[in-house]
Amino acid sequence: MADQPNHTFKKPETMLGESPAMQRLFDEIRKIAAVPTTVLIQGESGTGKELVARALHDRGPRSDRPFLVFNCSAIPDTLFESEMFGHNRGAFTGAVTKQSGFVEAAAGGTLFLDEISELSQGSQAKILRLLEQKTYQSLGEANEKHADVRLLAATNQALEPFIEQDRFRADLYYRLNACRIEVPPLRERREDIPLLARYFAGRAATEMGKRVTGIDDAAVRELMRYQFPGNVRELRNMVECAVIHCEHGGLLRNDDFLETCRSRRMGPKTESAAPVASSPWPLDTFDFHEVETRLYRAALQRSNGNISATARLLGLDRSKLRRRLDKLELA
Ligand SMILES: Nc1ncnc2c1ncn2[C@@H]1O[C@H](COP(=O)(O)OP(=O)(O)OP(=O)(O)O)[C@@H](O)[C@H]1O
Ligand SMILES: [Mg+2]
Repeated sequence: MADQPNHTFKKPETMLGESPAMQRLFDEIRKIAAVPTTVLIQGESGTGKELVARALHDRGPRSDRPFLVFNCSAIPDTLFESEMFGHNRGAFTGAVTKQSGFVEAAAGGTLFLDEISELSQGSQAKILRLLEQKTYQSLGEANEKHADVRLLAATNQALEPFIEQDRFRADLYYRLNACRIEVPPLRERREDIPLLARYFAGRAATEMGKRVTGIDDAAVRELMRYQFPGNVRELRNMVECAVIHCEHGGLLRNDDFLETCRSRRMGPKTESAAPVASSPWPLDTFDFHEVETRLYRAALQRSNGNISATARLLGLDRSKLRRRLDKLELA
């Protein structure tokens, strides 16, 4: 691996990967994009599920039509129907004008249901009908309408336990699972880290007007030793953070990757790691609950109270975070 300037910057959201796992994923995308089937995209947070959905749309026959993302965790269940299917004027208090929903707005194109595990059972039933019968009803309208959308869905949770807990309909699961794409975690395709890291460095440098031209070999080797629980998003954030703090031109070096960029959630360094010299915490008076509460409060505030976004920001599993927030009475 030679030190090289970053020259892979193409356009935002280019999906990169040289590993055999990613080559297989690209093959699958090529095959599945051409057929109108519904696809369940599964993978840990930050692995690139939305990019896969966009690639399926872009490479398919609907590419000149809209691609819309419906985030199932961001919309309260009470608003689901009107957001998804639209409503007539007067359909409910506050419905002062007729409004179309996502299904209509995505007509001819693709509707991507992100975080589908967060839908209520009632809303799942409506999605199942949309899938099976290709029909839907706007709120306050008697007539059924024909839906012309390709549906894609994503989840970062295994849905099988949700079925056992009666939180996810088995019939919808089987319908979605008929065609499934698994996006592998970054730690299982470490070969992609150099390419991705250099790409993100080049992109960030261009966007921020910095003289950074790439990342040197030693720093890349160091990046390849981490676990990346937050996957590609975490790598991107880390590289962007290094570009922001970098005060020299040329290649990013190890010391540009400040501890603040990477220490928080990265796995421990391997045996050659230097011992921690000093602790930033007042260990004698340290109150874990207070620190934890303050961290969650700050992250919730930054994410406008959205728990999924907070979980992503902290690199935590959403349901675990939810339980913790309940316990700390922060939710
Ligand atoms: N193979 C890749 N090449 C380039 N960029 C990537 C790749 N995979 C992911 N990214 C980038 O990483 C970030 C996270 O990707 P994306 O939003 O698609 O992940 P996700 O799986 O949908 O995450 P979440 O479960 O948190 O919603 C985005 O900025 C995306 O552009
Ligand atoms: Mg996503």
